[in-house]
Amino acid sequence: MPALANQRTAYLNGEYLAESQVLLPFRDRGFLYGDAVFDTTRTFGHRIFRLQAHVDRLYRSLRYLRIDPGLAPEQMVAVTEEVLERNRHLLDSEGDYWVSQRVSRGVASVDGEEPPRAGATVLVECTPLPLRERAALYRDGIRVIVPAQRRTPAEALSPRAKTSNYPNMIVADQEVSAIDPGAWAVLLDMQGHLAEGRGSNLFLVSAGELLTPKALNVLPGISRQTVLELAAELGIPCREADLDLYDAYAADEAFLTSTSLCLCPVRSINGMQVGGEEVFGPVTRRLIEAYRVLVGCDFVEQYRRHSR
Ligand SMILES: Cc1ncc(COP(=O)(O)O)c(C=O)c1O
Repeated sequence: MPALANQRTAYLNGEYLAESQVLLPFRDRGFLYGDAVFDTTRTFGHRIFRLQAHVDRLYRSLRYLRIDPGLAPEQMVAVTEEVLERNRHLLDSEGDYWVSQRVSRGVASVDGEEPPRAGATVLVECTPLPLRERAALYRDGIRVIVPAQRRTPAEALSPRAKTSNYPNMIVADQEVSAIDPGAWAVLLDMQGHLAEGRGSNLFLVSAGELLTPKALNVLPGISRQTVLELAAELGIPCREADLDLYDAYAADEAFLTSTSLCLCPVRSINGMQVGGEEVFGPVTRRLIEAYRVLVGCDFVEQYRRHSR
């Protein structure tokens, strides 16, 4: 079928399908209630980075929500690799994918009716990285704004689980976009400590020391963990801490980490410039260099090559 040959392929409940054929019942509980979890890794040079760590985090999120995906972690790894395999030919030499596993509790039952299918809904799919959209961030740095909206506390729903329930951070993004389109939200937790953004963790550099919010009220990002490991290797002192806006305003450097960004400098926080005139401070530069070597890809250049 030539019309499908140029389409990405996704895995849905045991089948590999062209994306246009991936259809979910509207009573899927992921859609009805956000009763689902997901995880996302990315490729570098068309190869998946730290897939096992992402699948391990996915299974911790599943356990927290008491969802049985019906697949063992090794099968999830194999399916994810297969999805990439089936889509690799659609990437150009400069591009890379986000590769995501999404698992919902399944389809809600209707009293007295046979459910269309029993068990969890498992979807594995890939999406080209937004290299064009984000290219300017690696030239200008990220403008961060702290919204009034606070990060959901662990007492309500642990931010350590990566659930498909993002309105807390989406509302924060909406608030920030209304103030400064293009700025990124970083939320405070209920105690007023810096927490995280929709899809990113925060780091500050203060007097040569690397600081990041404690993992209790944030998703422990795989990229965050990668930076912590690289800092240890480079001998950069590093600590998880309760940080507030005072720390952010006083910081010499700041950056965000995420699967897609890796690490990207923050230029300003609530309009206050971070550090000196250089967008990339010295500690940020060292860590980016080490990250590039680790992943075997110059991700800064990859983004910049896509500037419009
Ligand atoms: C809420 C949240 N915080 C932080 C991150 C960064 O995590 P990672 O580095 O694993 O992408 C993500 C993205 O997965 C996220 O959704």
